Amino acid sequence: MENPFSYTGIVKGDAFCNRKTELSELLTFTKASQNILLYSHRRYGKSSLIFKLFERLQRQRPKFNTLYIDLYGTLSEKDFATAALTSLGQIESRLEKLAQLVRGAIQSVKFGVSIDPVSGSPGMSISFDSSYDEAVTVHALKLLGSFSEHRKLVVVFDEFQEIANYKQAGFEKRLRAIIQQHDNISYIFCGSKRHILNDIFTNQNRAFYKLAQSYPLEVIETSHYVAWAKKLFGKAGRKIGADLIEEIVSRCENHPMYVQQFLFYLWEQTHTAIIGKTVAETERKVLQASQNEFFNLWDSLSLNQKKTLKLIVLTNGKDMYYANALQSVGLKAGSQVSRALEKLILSDIVLKNGYYKIQDVMFKNWIRTFSN
Ligand SMILES: Nc1ncnc2c1ncn2[C@@H]1O[C@H](COP(=O)(O)OP(=O)(O)OP(=O)(O)O)[C@@H](O)[C@H]1O
Ligand SMILES: [Mg+2]
Repeated sequence: MENPFSYTGIVKGDAFCNRKTELSELLTFTKASQNILLYSHRRYGKSSLIFKLFERLQRQRPKFNTLYIDLYGTLSEKDFATAALTSLGQIESRLEKLAQLVRGAIQSVKFGVSIDPVSGSPGMSISFDSSYDEAVTVHALKLLGSFSEHRKLVVVFDEFQEIANYKQAGFEKRLRAIIQQHDNISYIFCGSKRHILNDIFTNQNRAFYKLAQSYPLEVIETSHYVAWAKKLFGKAGRKIGADLIEEIVSRCENHPMYVQQFLFYLWEQTHTAIIGKTVAETERKVLQASQNEFFNLWDSLSLNQKKTLKLIVLTNGKDMYYANALQSVGLKAGSQVSRALEKLILSDIVLKNGYYKIQDVMFKNWIRTFSN
């Protein structure tokens, strides 16, 4: 049997573990056309959950339409409008008809045919002539609205934090004005940059203030992982002890992608009995696989930030300001730590929750093992 575990990209089918509560809650919100801000740390499973939700929505009666708009890499309002319009192909597969509809709403639009590199099927590519202006966003969003006239629609903007990079003044206001008119659409704003998203949605001076119900996505419970992993090993006639799975989950602090990665490697091993040794060896592989990513992150930090991360590793994020703790990592004053922490928290590398914690458990272990 092929390895059922996967740690790259969106997971579906057997590789998707539980999330039953989240699915049922999101289903309730979307049925009521509520807007949702779905956020979590990186690789917790937001996008996978969205696609699972879409599967459920498509089975509902009366039916729902769903649109997934990936904003990753978009730099401007124009890119935003292009992504929104292109996504309409997910609902209207007749390209002629779609082109006609879009042209009816926006004159300056140009069409081409693009071939989806994954599926090989033809899709619509969209561009604008130089006369692009902000009214296009309004028309594009109104067009989304027209798709919700006869059937409820769920629109997901994934990587929504990208809009913070757009330079066009008034973009958020324009977006809000239209979104508020769409009673039959549930908008889901998804992303992982907690500080940026929080500012967009909870800052009273910004247009998106209280526009969406906040839905933080947490890690998956240990008992859910155990049942799921046992079943997948069982399908191949293999036995895996609950204690081994629990050991892995705890080492990964329940992080969905890391748990998958551990289980992926474990599947490739023939002996699964020796707990300590197996898990430690697997962790070394995981750390090795992430070397480049961690090195790049480490290199991007200032010297005091690096020292502060080491201090967190050393003290478990408690009592960090004692003179001997500071000295052991070569820091002179508490003020250096405070300044470094401020930056590390803002970039979501460190969390403060009573004590300080390095968000990515494997990055923490990498610092402990490899950094010097
Ligand atoms: N329900 C799940 N069950 C098991 N593994 C999961 C689940 N959800 C996510 N994962 C694991 O986490 C990885 C990342 O999932 P996904 O891309 O959905 O997360 P994300 O939060 O959208 O990530 P990003 O922050 O990079 O956008 C998957 O490849 C998979 O290994
Ligand atoms: Mg994602």
